[in-house]
Amino acid sequence: MSAEEIAAGLYARVRGCQLCALAKTRTLAVPGEGPLAAEVMFIGEAPGANEDKLGRPFVGAAGNFLGELLAAAGLGREEVYICNVLKCRPPGNRDPLPAEIDACRDYLDEQIDLVDPLVIVTLGRFSMAKFFPNQVISRVHGQPRETAGRFYVPMYHPAAALHQGNLREVMLTDFRTLPALLARARGQAGLLQAGGAPPPRAPAPAHGADSLNGDPASGVAPIAAGATLEQQRNDGAGAPPTIEKTDAPAGALAHRQNNGR
Ligand code: URA
Repeated sequence: MSAEEIAAGLYARVRGCQLCALAKTRTLAVPGEGPLAAEVMFIGEAPGANEDKLGRPFVGAAGNFLGELLAAAGLGREEVYICNVLKCRPPGNRDPLPAEIDACRDYLDEQIDLVDPLVIVTLGRFSMAKFFPNQVISRVHGQPRETAGRFYVPMYHPAAALHQGNLREVMLTDFRTLPALLARARGQAGLLQAGGAPPPRAPAPAHGADSLNGDPASGVAPIAAGATLEQQRNDGAGAPPTIEKTDAPAGALAHRQNNGR
């Protein structure tokens, strides 16, 4: 089966999903969209009113700002993959419930496996919590973490900047670091594909367990408590960010080679 066929099956299951009570209140489920060979995946929280009507992610005010942020990173919306932790809108845009996140978990994990991005950007705290549990977004935003040949970057949710104007510049600054990170991720992927000496293996985090923090199995050290972005980052906007790293298993990129990259 091709990746497109797998995605079509996944999207059909999401559209017909009855796994939680949000099925009763949604208009349309929002599986996500973007090229399956995308190098960067953005994971938001849940559809809002506009997304619920159109069945597409980030098509309201937050989506407009996401477009600006992508432009600041030199990325076009059409070249990235965009999805959410929840595929259905919580009534009144309330926070996702743990049971809803659990019900939707496999869909997101399947998307991550299918797209197999070089970089995953989490937007907001619910998406961040999947990979960086117990972290505080104001401390860790913009700080990439590498594990198993993939980079993860927690970012504020674009909607937060619509409510708190001071976050606008913070988010733009964070997004401007993405090109350098992507270049590094590409270089590393190319090195591994070219048969460069693989570093010592570390197990990839299971998507089910998700955590990149303080998980001895992931080989990734927790983000330093109390360290601000400014303390950890190199100087200057757009400067390559400090990257916490664990070594990539040699097999981590095999799937990407089959994924058009
Ligand atoms: N906010 C999200 O987290 N996702 C969307 O798709 C829209 C707004």
